[in-house]
Amino acid sequence: MNGVDFLFVAKSTNEEITRNMGKKLGEKLKPGTVIALIGELGAGKTVFARGVAEGLGFTGIVNSPSFVLMNLYRGRMELYHFDFYRLEEEEELQELGLEEYFYAKGVAIVEWADKFPAALPVKRLEVEIVKDDRDLDNSRILYFKPRGGLDGFSCEELKKIAAPGF
Ligand SMILES: Nc1ncnc2c1ncn2[C@@H]1O[C@H](COP(=O)(O)OP(=O)(O)OP(=O)(O)O)[C@@H](O)[C@H]1O
Ligand SMILES: [Mg+2]
Repeated sequence: MNGVDFLFVAKSTNEEITRNMGKKLGEKLKPGTVIALIGELGAGKTVFARGVAEGLGFTGIVNSPSFVLMNLYRGRMELYHFDFYRLEEEEELQELGLEEYFYAKGVAIVEWADKFPAALPVKRLEVEIVKDDRDLDNSRILYFKPRGGLDGFSCEELKKIAAPGF
């Protein structure tokens, strides 16, 4: 919990609910926000990122940028979608010039962010998605963890984002 401002926990019982949480978050995002996604393979990180892109008004296809490392989507703001899964060395990140994207006019979202946490800004919204073992297929617990004094994501605000219903 080091550096986490507080913890907000939500439950999703299907893909649409997770995507809709991302969408409601995307509708609220301000320039320069960095979202760090954490969760095992198939947890729903890309599903969540898809919702964020949609909430930002992007209408195209959103997939894990595993091989290209970064996808750019243009909506109300630019969204930089990263995936650290295939990265082995932190030096490879330097080549990407992350700073340029993290402190920019757009929003960044990073899958497998826990692989290189030091490469991320201290101030970020971490979203950890955990499969619920009691329901092997569809249940997920989402842990929203604003870090480093991030503004705009109070408990009340996260409640609206995570509220079920469309
Ligand atoms: N409640 C749920 N929320 C999100 N995805 C769900 C849920 N229930 C089932 N799923 C399924 O889980 C899968 C999530 O896949 P997704 O590609 O988003 O995972 P990921 O975390 O990005 O994995 P990877 O690490 O491989 O990139 C999808 O097939 C989706 O349909
Ligand atoms: Mg993915």
